[in-house]
Amino acid sequence: MRKKIIAANWKMNMTVAETVSYLESFRTNVEAVNGVEIVIAPPFTAIAKLSELLGGSQKISLGAQNMYFEMSGAFTGEISPAMLRELFVRFVILGHSERRQIFGETDALINKKVHTALACGLKPIVCVGETLEERDAGRETEILTTQLRGSLAGVPAEKISSIVIAYEPVWAIGTGRNATPEQAQDAHAHVRKVLAEISDAETANKVRIQYGGSVKPANAAVLLSQPDIDGALVGGASLEAHGFSEIVKAAVGK
Ligand code: 13P
Repeated sequence: MRKKIIAANWKMNMTVAETVSYLESFRTNVEAVNGVEIVIAPPFTAIAKLSELLGGSQKISLGAQNMYFEMSGAFTGEISPAMLRELFVRFVILGHSERRQIFGETDALINKKVHTALACGLKPIVCVGETLEERDAGRETEILTTQLRGSLAGVPAEKISSIVIAYEPVWAIGTGRNATPEQAQDAHAHVRKVLAEISDAETANKVRIQYGGSVKPANAAVLLSQPDIDGALVGGASLEAHGFSEIVKAAVGK
């Protein structure tokens, strides 16, 4: 059984002050919820405060939205895995489509980051997903295969199982248009098939694959009931504590 994992990607939102009041209500909302892993990935400026407030919580893990693949040095504007580890960050989102599209990140760069994250004890949440143009051309599985093979190149099977994959169709991000449960399930099954080719079937079975793209309290339960959907990576709807806690509860059927 794969434990469901629900992650908040706050993107470039939330000040430190907003983070403090959010956590207060979110914690109360999920107090009685068990059996699901919760991750919050705030902007870098709120990580230290959130880390202090969480105090090593087992229920809510800290995530980062990005990192560089070097440990330190002359890399203006970047954040290293060592800096994240110091603040007890456990997960790091890598290769989000906004990083790929707006900041030109390639599979080769993402691959370097994946290797460094694993070497430093951070669990990568590796994002993959096709654009609308690619889906309309019937190329979604080909794109997923290329992104997975490129970003996971050289990662040994024993490390693949600690990676989380997020399938985020670009056309569903921030558009209010989510993939249907069937479309998402088909894509997730394909991701698992590629993971089995890269490693082996047993390893691929252990990997948690999140769906991301306009997940809301109203559609979370049906998406999460699909056999290969093991969680959600939530953008817009994670910015509101009550709504995000409803999505978390959908993962455990409460
Ligand atoms: P939305 O939930 O706002 O569509 O964003 C999804 C996403 O990109 C999460 O990483």
